Amino acid sequence: MNAPRILVQLDSDSHPSVFDAVVAIDAGVEHLLQYGQVEPTNVRQLVHGAMFTRGPAQLNNTAIFVGGSNVSVGEAIAAEVRQTFFGPIRVSVMLDGNGSNTTAAAAVLAAARHAELSDSTALVLGGTGPVGQRVARLLLRRKCNVLLASRDLDRAEVACKQMRQRLGHEICSRLEPISYSASDWPASALHRCNLLFGCGAAGATLLDADSLASASNLRVAIDLNAVPPAGIAGIAVIDKAVQRGSRVDYGAIGAGGLKMKIHRAAIERLFTRNDLFFDAEEIFEIGAALETQR
Ligand SMILES: NC(=O)c1ccc[n+]([C@@H]2O[C@H](COP(=O)([O-])OP(=O)(O)OC[C@H]3O[C@@H](n4cnc5c(N)ncnc54)[C@H](OP(=O)(O)O)[C@@H]3O)[C@@H](O)[C@H]2O)c1
Repeated sequence: MNAPRILVQLDSDSHPSVFDAVVAIDAGVEHLLQYGQVEPTNVRQLVHGAMFTRGPAQLNNTAIFVGGSNVSVGEAIAAEVRQTFFGPIRVSVMLDGNGSNTTAAAAVLAAARHAELSDSTALVLGGTGPVGQRVARLLLRRKCNVLLASRDLDRAEVACKQMRQRLGHEICSRLEPISYSASDWPASALHRCNLLFGCGAAGATLLDADSLASASNLRVAIDLNAVPPAGIAGIAVIDKAVQRGSRVDYGAIGAGGLKMKIHRAAIERLFTRNDLFFDAEEIFEIGAALETQR
């Protein structure tokens, strides 16, 4: 008989995310153990409790989810979780701090419905944030050219440098840092891009309607900001593959359905083995498999 499916939710915030808890239960988790204020330094005891309680044949029925609003702390927690495992004594782990991995995967897969990613050029606004960096990462792996945009060129360069360290120079030969301000857009970047991703902070307008209209080669525009005003003026939060001229638009809620499907599917998948680790790339692949079943 299979042991019940237990998900251990590790969250750096004082209150573990209700959003992540609801998705877990909707994905079939039978027992959810929630821990808040988790830090990399207090992870080991929690992980030991998950890995030493069930026999090897039942370890696939325990899994760990790492979330929390501080995405870098989540990454450090996940690294510590993995270091605690040894040999076959381990459980599967999903990392999705602040929804950054599932959101980025959904955005890139939504764009891929309408355009060939390889050899396209994507402009990623708010490219220094957790979601923007992951969107850029996933696009680069699909051979897309990426203009990573920040309001500050130094910050864009730092993000690109970190990306080079992570992905290697060859993949990042298609990556270019650029700077912008909402009132002074580099016309060449807008002219070059076929794909536009708005990954700026909630409630921040990054691009006005005139600048958007000047992007004459644009095929897909996705604004992930759900908090008014729009991140990309003219895109409504509920837009879902809305055709405007030669462009297709998605808003945060429009792309959010796919994000939720991916999140649920990834949680379900955690319980198929005891040695999986899901970061942005693995979560993207789960989403890509869902897309083939559409
Ligand atoms: N649908 C979902 O489930 C879901 C899940 C996660 C996130 N999101 C949304 O996705 C977007 C990106 O999330 P995130 O966590 O990566 O965002 P974030 O870290 O809050 O911000 C991303 C970037 O936006 C820029 N920024 C910050 N304040 C700004 C301002 N006042 N005006 C213009 N730019 C500003 C910053 O870049 P520079 O300083 O370098 O310019 C920052 O690195 C957000 O709108 C978020 O709400 C949606």
